[in-house]
Amino acid sequence: MIVSDYVNLIDLSDHPAQWWENVIRLGTEIADDPQKYAHSCDGRIMATLFYEPSTRTQMSFQTAMVRLGGTVIGFDNPATSSVAKGENLKDTTKVVSGYADIMVMRHPKEGSAKAAALTAECPIINAGDGRHLHPTQTLTDMLTLYKEKGTLENLTIGLCGDLLNGRTVHSLCKAMSAFKGNRFVLISTPSLRLPFYIKAILNAAGCSYTEADTIEEVIGELDVLYMTRIQRERFDSEEEYFKQKDVYCLDTRKMAMAKKDMIVLHPLPRVDEIAIDVDNDSRAAYFRQAKYGMYVRMALIITMLNEKNRPTELLIGKTHHTVCCTNPNCITCTETYLPRSFRGAKDTLECEYCDERVLRHY
Ligand code: NCD
Repeated sequence: MIVSDYVNLIDLSDHPAQWWENVIRLGTEIADDPQKYAHSCDGRIMATLFYEPSTRTQMSFQTAMVRLGGTVIGFDNPATSSVAKGENLKDTTKVVSGYADIMVMRHPKEGSAKAAALTAECPIINAGDGRHLHPTQTLTDMLTLYKEKGTLENLTIGLCGDLLNGRTVHSLCKAMSAFKGNRFVLISTPSLRLPFYIKAILNAAGCSYTEADTIEEVIGELDVLYMTRIQRERFDSEEEYFKQKDVYCLDTRKMAMAKKDMIVLHPLPRVDEIAIDVDNDSRAAYFRQAKYGMYVRMALIITMLNEKNRPTELLIGKTHHTVCCTNPNCITCTETYLPRSFRGAKDTLECEYCDERVLRHY
């Protein structure tokens, strides 16, 4: 087993649902009176390492820390850091984590945040690792649901768009399956369906889900419609992307078929999957959602900086020297010094970084 000396947020399942609920509750208190928390992080330093583009996540984290009285260091363009000279993930993250009290990281490879946490010298927050997970967007989404619907239970949640590559969808499904009575309606083309391992989590939690090809056929039954963009940067070719690009567009005609109290969420950025005039519908909650993201990140930073350092498990499986992950986008494929650690028995091994199940033997 490999442990971290710190309490990280790589995946929401690192923590019990009670912990998420406490962060969300604190987020609502901060939203009501942000001034009260203006000195909660005086003298503390947060590093933000963004190896991938970001507007909301990076700026809401930075604003959150500044509003709490702390300061921020970091980069948002690895080309201007030593990454451009060929520095590996371990060296960059280990060094920067020694400068900061907490480190927020986004990276295009699945499993990168966990890889960094293996050697980091401060707590790490995963701000998106490839197409894998995005736990702080999910805290944002849950705070929004709580504020807008008053509950995290018994909701029929439609998720539409790129369910295969959308990390916000993966983290949200995992988290919402922990609350009772939630039902998922997965709207996508056949080639962009939710990954098998997330469906397995829904099944294990006893959550019902159905799959649909169009918004029109299901919108009337939804309490929440979570729209996502088609993740252009995660396709093997532009041609593949263009085949998927304009399949879904939520417009006012479709909104007219929805319940009067259905809300529309979107992690943003929007490309063309929601028509601009839907913004004028009071059920369009995505700009409110983006703002809640700042408050929930303030709550998260306070919570994590006040948490006592204690060893937390990172790799609990076995290192297999003769097996490698078949996901070409797994961090273990490029950062080859990482211990290749898998859960489970030989024929059902799961990569502990990216959760991929299919394996190749040397
Ligand atoms: C999302 C992301 O980066 O995964 N954006 C965000 O963090 N708000 C969604 C996306 O890029 O489509």
